[in-house]
Amino acid sequence: MIYDLINTFLKKTDPEIAHSIAIKALKSNLLPLNLLVSKPKLNLASKLFNKEFKSPIGLAAGFDKNAEVYNKFLKLGFGFVEVGTVTPKPQNGNAKPRVFRLSEDKAIINRLGFPNDGFDKLKSRILNDKPQGILGINVGPNKSNAQKIEDYLYLIKELKDLADYITINISSPNTEGLRDFHDLDKLGDLLSEINNINSNNSKIPILIKLSPDFENKNIEKMCELLLKESVNGIILTNTSVLNREKLINQNRQESGGLSGFPIFKISNDKIKIFYKFIGKKIPIIGVGGVFDGETAYEKIKCGASLLQLYTSLVYQGPLIASSINEELSNLLDRDGFKNLSEVVGINNN
Ligand SMILES: Cc1cc2nc3c(=O)[nH]c(=O)nc-3n(C[C@H](O)[C@H](O)[C@H](O)COP(=O)(O)O)c2cc1C
Repeated sequence: MIYDLINTFLKKTDPEIAHSIAIKALKSNLLPLNLLVSKPKLNLASKLFNKEFKSPIGLAAGFDKNAEVYNKFLKLGFGFVEVGTVTPKPQNGNAKPRVFRLSEDKAIINRLGFPNDGFDKLKSRILNDKPQGILGINVGPNKSNAQKIEDYLYLIKELKDLADYITINISSPNTEGLRDFHDLDKLGDLLSEINNINSNNSKIPILIKLSPDFENKNIEKMCELLLKESVNGIILTNTSVLNREKLINQNRQESGGLSGFPIFKISNDKIKIFYKFIGKKIPIIGVGGVFDGETAYEKIKCGASLLQLYTSLVYQGPLIASSINEELSNLLDRDGFKNLSEVVGINNN
């Protein structure tokens, strides 16, 4: 099929060039991909943050960094799309090369460092292309601003009327000091400042995206804090700077964040522990190594109410959400479940 040929070509091309070709192809409307997409079945539907999700499969942050193609993905079977990470000012990110495929490992290592067009451009794109489904915006600070909280607050104020939720990204390993916000005191300060500016009528759901690399012993206290500060969702997880031992591809030596199949179990373990302490009081969005119906099903059983993916899109192409929807729906039927929500966390019972 033509799409398989295109995918094979893209996988042989430099990852960043392949990414920009993919964005251009999606923007151009040349590929009538939506003709191949089947509607998600009703057993995949859920309501979270007061929004109706037709499918639990979302596009993870980082692919549509500049909000150029979110409506295309919403037509390809994705139940929601998270654009960004966006920063207040445009920035170039780290020196190239900075994205590496590890095909044998079904993985990627990236050290992009938030290259993006800045919030101004992202804002005008969203205003000019009304989202046809659920849109999240993932926000982070500029490298040049030592006052990181200032940047988060600024972006929330500027963007909160444009999206269905905002994700506070404190977990990218490629911005120095960002992951320090996993420290409970620092996180408490950040969240209470966010609540100060997000408490009026136009309140937007706030999600927090966490790293797989922080210690399990702090999770119970972290859950207490997230409940106290009324965080609306927890995204588990971002990429990992650890876990290189079992990788095969020589790119394993590259520094940066590891994503894809090798972090599947690692992020599942974090989901399980968070779910143990928090249950369904705060929905968990599971991300890391979702490649097919089985891996999606497993993550939901660990405690995720919604899922996101990035690396499998790179390896398997833009019809991935549609095919996971179908497989996941069949798995629910096979096991006698009427709706996805019945499965959330059952591995923990
Ligand atoms: C090339 C690349 C760029 C990414 N950029 C971002 C980003 O800007 N912000 C963010 O929160 N996560 C970013 N991520 C992390 C993903 O959103 C996701 O959390 C991680 O890749 C694990 O999911 P996966 O195994 O399905 O890829 C990026 C991942 C990759 C591979």
